[in-house]
Amino acid sequence: MKLDAAALDLLFRQARSHNKFTDASVSDDTLRELHDLLKLGPTSANCSPARYLFLRTPEAKQRLAPALSSGNLEKTMAAPVTVIVAYDPSFYEKLPQLFPHNPDARSWFTSNDSLAATTAFRNGTLQGGYLVLAARALGLDTGPMSGFDNTKVDEEFLSWRGWRSNFLVNLGYGDPSGMFPRSPRLDFDDACVLL
Ligand SMILES: Cc1cc2nc3c(=O)[nH]c(=O)nc-3n(C[C@H](O)[C@H](O)[C@H](O)COP(=O)(O)O)c2cc1C
Repeated sequence: MKLDAAALDLLFRQARSHNKFTDASVSDDTLRELHDLLKLGPTSANCSPARYLFLRTPEAKQRLAPALSSGNLEKTMAAPVTVIVAYDPSFYEKLPQLFPHNPDARSWFTSNDSLAATTAFRNGTLQGGYLVLAARALGLDTGPMSGFDNTKVDEEFLSWRGWRSNFLVNLGYGDPSGMFPRSPRLDFDDACVLL
């Protein structure tokens, strides 16, 4: 089965990265619905290392403000929700629950720090991408951002949990008046190799 044209437009062709959002709020139920979808995206050994902090109050946003680059400050303060897409470097502690058919899975990572770090970041980043696409599938819009001080975000929100920040995503219902024109993408022949 293939999605119809309207669904492909919603997910990709008409979907944009947004700088401005309408005043429409995003309910906590919608955030739960979002997580129920994105958690089903694949990760290696189902390790699911991403963690998500949904900042949806002025108080939480103010705690984030000092870490934001100047270009990202105003729009992030105004967005209905800002997600800190983080990851748990000790994700492997949950493998007995997440990958029950192989009791050895945890030891693949406890015996190899480099593999654990690469796995956490690779899969945590993928899950951030799933969040963007799941949001679009629910009719939401996103504005992903890496322009911020990771160390400050970690100290303010994450260190006591043992988690680390990856990137941020503003979330809401987009106001197209804040958008730049779509930038070109690479053609198939510039990005792809058929072997
Ligand atoms: C991981 C990531 C980090 C980004 N960081 C920023 C950022 O710090 N500030 C910003 O204004 N846009 C940021 N963007 C938005 C990109 O510039 C935008 O997604 C890209 O130009 C494509 O735009 P389009 O989705 O509207 O086609 C980021 C996007 C991604 C995926």
